Amino acid sequence: MAHDYLAGFGNEFESEAVAGALPRGQFSPQRAPHGLYAEKFSLTAFTAPRADNRRTWFYRIRPSVTQGGYTPLATPNWSSAPLVGGMTPPDPLRWSPPPLAAGRDFADGLVTIAANGDAATQAGIGIHLYRADQPMTRRCLVDADGELLLVPWSGAITLTTECGELDVAPGEIAIVPRGMKFAVDPHGGAAGYVCENYGAALRLPERGPVGSDGFANNRDFLAPVAAYRDADTPFEIVCRFQGHSFRADIDHDPFDVVAWVGTAVPCKYDLRRFNVMGSISYDHPDPSIFTVLSAPSDTPGVANVDFVIFPPRWLVAEHSFRPPWFHRNVMSEFMGLVYGQYDAKQSGFEPGGMSLHNAFVPHGPDADVYAAASSAPLAPAKLDDTLAFMFETRYPLRLTRWALESPALQDDYRACWQGLRRHFTPPA
Ligand code: FE2
Repeated sequence: MAHDYLAGFGNEFESEAVAGALPRGQFSPQRAPHGLYAEKFSLTAFTAPRADNRRTWFYRIRPSVTQGGYTPLATPNWSSAPLVGGMTPPDPLRWSPPPLAAGRDFADGLVTIAANGDAATQAGIGIHLYRADQPMTRRCLVDADGELLLVPWSGAITLTTECGELDVAPGEIAIVPRGMKFAVDPHGGAAGYVCENYGAALRLPERGPVGSDGFANNRDFLAPVAAYRDADTPFEIVCRFQGHSFRADIDHDPFDVVAWVGTAVPCKYDLRRFNVMGSISYDHPDPSIFTVLSAPSDTPGVANVDFVIFPPRWLVAEHSFRPPWFHRNVMSEFMGLVYGQYDAKQSGFEPGGMSLHNAFVPHGPDADVYAAASSAPLAPAKLDDTLAFMFETRYPLRLTRWALESPALQDDYRACWQGLRRHFTPPA
């Protein structure tokens, strides 16, 4: 079923699945229309500045408080934070795509790769993979620890949320607000990356001298329209809280929001809509020019996490080394590949694979990429059929035992630099 959407980012949206379900002129009338319950969902502190404030009013068949008591749920691969996966080596690390799920739904197929910070102090991120080929039947998730950024690389999914439904395919991303109930139904087998953001909500970065358009434009973000289910059937809620999982029974379908109004909404975005900026004179700019979304920390200009993409684009810089340079970075860089080939890594980095370059870990273009790019004719060239991304975070990432012991971890990723030759020629 194709869905309707509301366009924009940070707007106050409103939607009603039944005419007249949304109260007019106030949020909390003495009796909400049609016998619905009004329920406020606050994504930021009540007193957050108006520009940052996010909240949504739901008008639902039953309030959320009617759910049952939670009991612990074992999710061994969806690891507790802080992670104790052993020591994370300060080496460049790369993984082949792990095997896809068989017989699992989204909640059961989640596996944690790395994390930093602490959900309790609302700083840092968790990085997970989802691998699902089963629907979440009469089951939903709610993550009280973090906002979820989903980056599919294989298979489309339908996200059911309290605000309505979103269809998301590889090449698109989806954001589920912290604390919002949702379910994921794969269309066949589906797999993707998940950034669990413990910090302030993702937002569009400032544009500075670029001006009023460009990068990710607000109009391309799509929020769902209200859609509800009214069913007195047993349902399970899985809740993520302080790095642990819990489950509770409820006696009805919790996706029962008939109308809503607010700024705290899930959304999706087609990464092909990103308006790419780059050098049209010389040199390779910092990859921050490819930032789609940024979650700030308390230090200006230093993100809790940036979501950065490397999409198809023209390379025209003159007398310049065009691929990413060799570098060492205080920020920690986790990369994945949605499709195609990333221009700094010619082999060993496939869609669904991963790399991690933690704080100050030296890295750069593979040796063969360096050799080719440093002698190639510098005609304008199009990088096509490529979509890589990066979660760049201010805190070093600690790997889980699952990631450290995964057969997908490539034995010696540093081998890709062993062909680097000494070029220095002292003057005669
Ligand atoms: Fe890097």
